[in-house]
Amino acid sequence: MKIDTVAIIGSGAMGSGIAQVCAMAGFTTLLFDKNAAAVERSRKSLNDIFSMLESKNKITATERSNYLDKLSWNESLSAISGVQLVIEAIVENAEIKREIFSEIEAIVDATCIICSNTSSLSITGLAATCTEPGRFAGLHFFNPAPLMKLVEIIPALQTDPAVIETLKVFVQQLGKTGVIARDSPGFIVNRLARSYYSESLRIYEEHQATTEQIDQIMKDKGGFKMGPFELMDLIGHDINFSVTNSVFTSFFFDPRYKPSHSQKQLVEAGWLGRKAGRGFYRYPRPADAGPVEYNQELGEQVFDRIISMLVNEAVDAVYLGVCSESDADLAMQLGANYPKGLIAWGREIGFARIQANILRLREAYHEDRYRPSKGLEELNDKL
Ligand code: NAI
Repeated sequence: MKIDTVAIIGSGAMGSGIAQVCAMAGFTTLLFDKNAAAVERSRKSLNDIFSMLESKNKITATERSNYLDKLSWNESLSAISGVQLVIEAIVENAEIKREIFSEIEAIVDATCIICSNTSSLSITGLAATCTEPGRFAGLHFFNPAPLMKLVEIIPALQTDPAVIETLKVFVQQLGKTGVIARDSPGFIVNRLARSYYSESLRIYEEHQATTEQIDQIMKDKGGFKMGPFELMDLIGHDINFSVTNSVFTSFFFDPRYKPSHSQKQLVEAGWLGRKAGRGFYRYPRPADAGPVEYNQELGEQVFDRIISMLVNEAVDAVYLGVCSESDADLAMQLGANYPKGLIAWGREIGFARIQANILRLREAYHEDRYRPSKGLEELNDKL
């Protein structure tokens, strides 16, 4: 099916960003929001962004006017009747999403594809609220959508395979890289990234290393652009804690995804990170803090523990059919800016060593949290 007209429902941070991407890729793009102020904010923000891009010579005046011609902002949902694809990016609430899907289905053609940009709700559950669940899928963009290259394409149990093929082409036309994720908690990126935060929080809570040391070790030894605590402060503890909670709950309280009390307390205190002026660190951070010291042994212990949990999670996701090895690696590099894909990293370190590290943690803690994936053995045999 050929797509040339797209409707974006919800003109907040994600909706506006996705609309910008669609318009710049040449799609006629209709934005709808039930809140008139949000519509105006989005119109102003996209006008400002295109002017800024023009003033920096990133786009020409003609391109700017072409992109704006492709966009329209609507306060009435009936405007979207002729579109071939709807991308919903409204508030993260299943009941409110269900209501809008039934309104959308009453307006669009029978062949129109309907997608949700949800980060945490079950795609299969959302599809089930539609009259025609076969046309429904997840299309998960990353924030900020115009800059982040990755889009997770998530078939619901009910999705017609032809819909996924159309979405793969559409994502490519947007200039993005699409990966296929099985409908499961956190999809790929939000699931695989959990250990970066949760294992770091455990090490910190056990007073084995300071936040500064853990951050420095992961940057020095792993080449991560940001340490886990700096990154959590940037994302915001409200958002990061809520994603962890949602993944933990959706996995029926599997201890591997258990949230942290120290992060919960930051949320309670309103120390949400950079945006609040305080999280694990105070902001602005002093520029002359000097190098963070740690000894070689601590550096290795911390890095081995965090990277082993990350690789184990990625291997388990592949083992359980959440994604392919190559999509697992693409997703973390493009959706979370990791310096390497986790499967490739595991291959470099050795899957047997990752397994031994996890078994050592299991012996030390006697917790089900530390379970080597069965997939580690399989990948090790293939080496
Ligand atoms: P936001 O709060 O910035 O925007 C949501 C917009 O939806 C608001 O403008 C609101 O007026 C509008 N809205 C609410 N109910 C509506 C309805 N019934 N009909 C029409 N418009 C309605 O939220 P944000 O951050 O853009 O998130 C939107 C969706 O994208 C959520 O499902 C979220 O989980 C998902 N998402 C968010 C990411 C992020 O980093 N913010 C990343 C990836 C996905």
